[in-house]
Amino acid sequence: MNQVRFNHLLGLEGLSRAAITEILDSAEAFLEVLDRPIRQVPSLRGVSVANLFFEPSTRTRISFELAEKRLSAEVTNFAASGSSISKGETMLDTVQNIEAMKIDVVVIRHFAQGAPHFLAERISAAVINAGDGSHEHPTQGLLDIMTMRRKVGNLEGLKVLILGDIAHSRVARSNIWGLLTMGAEVMLCGPGTLIPREIEDMNVDVTNDLDEGLAWCDVVNVLRLQIERQREGLLPSLREYQRSFGLSKSRLEKAGGEKIVMHPGPMNRGVEIDSDVADSPASVILQQVTHGVAVRMAVLYLISGGERVIE
Ligand code: CP
Repeated sequence: MNQVRFNHLLGLEGLSRAAITEILDSAEAFLEVLDRPIRQVPSLRGVSVANLFFEPSTRTRISFELAEKRLSAEVTNFAASGSSISKGETMLDTVQNIEAMKIDVVVIRHFAQGAPHFLAERISAAVINAGDGSHEHPTQGLLDIMTMRRKVGNLEGLKVLILGDIAHSRVARSNIWGLLTMGAEVMLCGPGTLIPREIEDMNVDVTNDLDEGLAWCDVVNVLRLQIERQREGLLPSLREYQRSFGLSKSRLEKAGGEKIVMHPGPMNRGVEIDSDVADSPASVILQQVTHGVAVRMAVLYLISGGERVIE
């Protein structure tokens, strides 16, 4: 029987080590389900889940939908484009209407920071944050941590370098909260314009020297560079960024040792990461995607009151 109850999953900030461990252990069991000839269990039969995506997504949207279907939930998909949002309806009205159709769980991605928290206070359905602005992306953080745990066994003392646009990254924040809770050490690396001052108070180290970061770490988690940051004057040029902060084979070789290379996707190949690194044996990028389905199955299952017996 699981020890930890979840009403919502809004972020990894404040989530206990016991809760994260419970999710990861459940995800391991679901990963085994995904390897079966029939990749479906009846755990969420009769549970209605609505996926509300107010912002583009490939991995997270498909992964949640697959996770829900693998658990036999009833799935409703909503995309802001083509909905009554374009006629001026508010997000709260939209969600209250959807809830009136007896939805049990709402998965929401929104460009506004705090949108899932706003909903969680106003509707009775369980709310799962699938990424809110530059705030948090908890299931991405969990799948990243699961991937690391599977590779190294024990997260205690693991040295994780998070590389790139920290300032605008919800993935960075969820990784930092989750990894520190699990006993890992975190260093951030990127240009000074993309590392906010307040994040330095989160018990992490910071460097602007990629060679220093790579020499230190066991794992490098590369973030997508949001190209529009150049237009905002936060980067001199993409070429300059690539030269200073792009992860190349030669830089990894210079650092020595075996590093685990991660990226949440979508990737800008040739900008923040070179193809011969992204596609190398050191890369676990596609394993992250596979683990994402198992982690989301675990979160959906636990949030729906599931116990750790998976049929
Ligand atoms: N990693 C991630 O959130 O990707 P999507 O934006 O495609 O969902």
